Amino acid sequence: MANQDKINELIEKRAKAKLGGGEKRIDSQHSKGKLTARERIDILLDEDSFEEFDMFVTHRTHSFGLEKQIYLSDGVVTGHGTIDGRIVYVFSQDFTVFGGSLSETYALKICKIMDMAMKVGAPIIGLNDSGGARIQEGVRSLAGYAEIFQRNIMASGVIPQISSILGPCAGGAVYSPALTDFTIMTDKTSYMFVTGPKVVQTVTGEVVTTEQLGGASIHSTKSGVSHFLAENDEENLLLVRKLLSYLPSNNLEDPPVIKCTEPIDRFDDELNEIIPENPNLPYDIVDIITIIADRSEFTEVHRNYARNIVVGFARFNGRPVGIVANQPKYYAGVLDIEASRKAARFVRFCDSFNVPIVTLVDVPGFLPGTGQEYGGIILHGAKLLFAYGEATVPKVTITLRKSYGGAHDVMSCKQLRGDVNYAWPSAEIAVMGAKGAVEVLEGRNIRNIENVDEQQKFIVKKEGEYSKKFANPYEAAKYGFIDDVIEPRNTRFRIIRALELLANKKEVNPPKKHSNIPL
Ligand code: HXC
Repeated sequence: MANQDKINELIEKRAKAKLGGGEKRIDSQHSKGKLTARERIDILLDEDSFEEFDMFVTHRTHSFGLEKQIYLSDGVVTGHGTIDGRIVYVFSQDFTVFGGSLSETYALKICKIMDMAMKVGAPIIGLNDSGGARIQEGVRSLAGYAEIFQRNIMASGVIPQISSILGPCAGGAVYSPALTDFTIMTDKTSYMFVTGPKVVQTVTGEVVTTEQLGGASIHSTKSGVSHFLAENDEENLLLVRKLLSYLPSNNLEDPPVIKCTEPIDRFDDELNEIIPENPNLPYDIVDIITIIADRSEFTEVHRNYARNIVVGFARFNGRPVGIVANQPKYYAGVLDIEASRKAARFVRFCDSFNVPIVTLVDVPGFLPGTGQEYGGIILHGAKLLFAYGEATVPKVTITLRKSYGGAHDVMSCKQLRGDVNYAWPSAEIAVMGAKGAVEVLEGRNIRNIENVDEQQKFIVKKEGEYSKKFANPYEAAKYGFIDDVIEPRNTRFRIIRALELLANKKEVNPPKKHSNIPL
């Protein structure tokens, strides 16, 4: 063959590979409002930065008629490119080839780039659109999944791993994303379930739609499996880029600092008035976050799940931070099972990747009752306690209003190695609220008063006395548990100063195989 013929052969093969399962299936993918595997990579990566590996790989199965269905790339596009100029590795599952299902060779392709990502310390991004294990390949496909899972586990805490869910994902196709750091689902076109509605009906008799079983909205609100909900594929992929802008490429690097163009010492006067006079009235903690952060930018994680706590990424003077904040707007910001799990996972993520944590506290306590106790609030609350106590990144805590009981301890208090702990003058740091305290301490005296009006007067008086003594920041400041009481309008500057002060913080935990966090 002449040289030019050989080159033409290569060009033809490449063109064929790029068609995946063929024009008809590509049209079907588009008609569902979904992009193809390669179109997605183009949106995700910097222009023309993608280099593909293993385009000519095909499967090795000779039964079920598969020997007559050979597709170059075998249903997954893999390689590397850049995002904002930094190297990332990516695999993009191609639903047009056997429903994106995973074969032995397909798994090997993914493992190859995962291994390279680990070697060079670059993030790995999975674009998932797959019916799970390729049924015709049997146990070889299961083994392929397990190879990927093992790599996900080894990469955890070493390189950021992000999963976009862009189609129906079942079986093994959901467990790999579950092992990664963040999962982003596209509304109405992506699904995640262990197995689909047909099998559910056969096994349990339950009749359920795909959307009800594992739609993006369910996983973003009820299960918490998905950290973000995107309107479409493009928004999903752009979110991956945004998320990575806050993160280092690996655990040995610090997060990228960008130039801050706003004054760091501006006074945010509205903060002095933002806490309602009545301690039972709510406000929106996200307003406070956007007032104090650079460019009013806050990338909220798990926005629609466990809304009584808010977590996400922001920047102060160009430095990325993870924010954890109680949300008085939902259930008064109480800590319950879901909020504890959500925040604990986020704190551990930040600690893994050297992202400092800023905690904003306004918490009335843990949610009491049988619902919570039977669900194991003791263990779930302990997760958050553990996560904060274990974290060695810089930890800056601001108590805005309530900080009561166990929840005070959990929310990055001084004794859990909080580095800088400030409080606003409106802070109330105590064992419990006035009402509960008076009931416990004065119960007998209250019952001894026969006249109801007199009883009420007594309660109000005692509650007043208690509030005066304990519902303030100065009692904690007296013992040095709070480093300073600050003016609310100066919060941004004080946080920036604290983060700068802590930039070279070194703290190490005792050597051990790993800790035993209460799961
Ligand atoms: C082989 C598959 C496949 C699979 C889909 N296809 N899933 N081929 N193995 N797992 C093929 C279909 O046969 C079809 O081929 C094409 O892909 C498109 O699939 P459709 O069913 O037409 O598409 P849709 O209606 O959109 O439904 C998508 C789906 C459904 C929801 C993903 O295909 C489905 O339920 N698949 C099985 C899901 C599942 O239970 N997987 C679990 C595998 S076990 P043709 O040629 O007809 O177009 C597993 C264990 C791992 O993963 C264990 C790890 C812990």
